[in-house]
Amino acid sequence: MPDVDLTDKQAAVDYLKKKAEPLHDEWRKENAMHNFNRVYRKSLWTGNQPVKFTFADWKTDKQADKKQAAEIGNRAWTLAKMIAGGQNMNVYFSGDPGTGKTSLALAMVDKIRNESGKTALFVSTDALAELYDRRFDDKATQNRLYELIDLMQGNRQLKIDPVDVLVLDDFGTEGGMRTDTKSQVRVDMQKGLFSVADARFGKFTTIVTTNNKTSELQEMYNEKLLSRLITRNPEHRLTFNGMVDVRASMI
Ligand SMILES: Nc1ncnc2c1ncn2[C@@H]1O[C@H](COP(=O)(O)OP(=O)(O)OP(=O)(O)O)[C@@H](O)[C@H]1O
Ligand SMILES: [Mg+2]
Repeated sequence: MPDVDLTDKQAAVDYLKKKAEPLHDEWRKENAMHNFNRVYRKSLWTGNQPVKFTFADWKTDKQADKKQAAEIGNRAWTLAKMIAGGQNMNVYFSGDPGTGKTSLALAMVDKIRNESGKTALFVSTDALAELYDRRFDDKATQNRLYELIDLMQGNRQLKIDPVDVLVLDDFGTEGGMRTDTKSQVRVDMQKGLFSVADARFGKFTTIVTTNNKTSELQEMYNEKLLSRLITRNPEHRLTFNGMVDVRASMI
């Protein structure tokens, strides 16, 4: 028998509420996880290959300068904590290939997922450029592109909210890979990304990883887009230059 006077209506209601609390907590968690997965599985990966990485996978001994690796890992961890706690910001990871930018961006997403009900989406900018290239080839490609744009910037008519956390991975590759010199990125993609950046600025979190220096991005992208996407806040900018190419040392 419950230790409560069930003839006392208020006491009975309080008792039942308290009893249901752990169950509600579990439902809330399950619901958040379901919501996260529903959005995150729409991510656009390079070569269609989803990648997983957590802070526990980040090994400082992969780097010659262990101190630098520890510091950069800690800074990314702190930013993830702030975002999970409700702050929105643009984050900028720049540096040479194979130094761990994508990995740490994914680790941040993993931590944010574990600590908040926020949604997230990973978009390989290069794969996005390919969708733009092939958008008129078939309806499925076009729909896939529109679906991603709706998730990145929201669509009021369709009642789709922008994702809370967007990873724009390898930003700039789509400009650099096409020719030897840094060329302007195609106009339709610039316009698409501009409206994404404009819709998200100040309200949602966008993590950009790039091999390019800001000056190189300026040759490829319109400055109005860059000012909405690339943060100038030194606390939110992590530079991976001078670190070892871990990918190359794995083969
Ligand atoms: N500190 C680290 N600990 C464990 N694995 C690492 C570390 N740094 C990099 N790696 C591994 O090295 C590989 C390359 O890392 P990652 O893809 O994150 O590099 P990147 O900086 O994004 O490179 P790119 O500029 O070419 O996109 C991945 O398989 C990643 O898991
Ligand atoms: Mg990368």
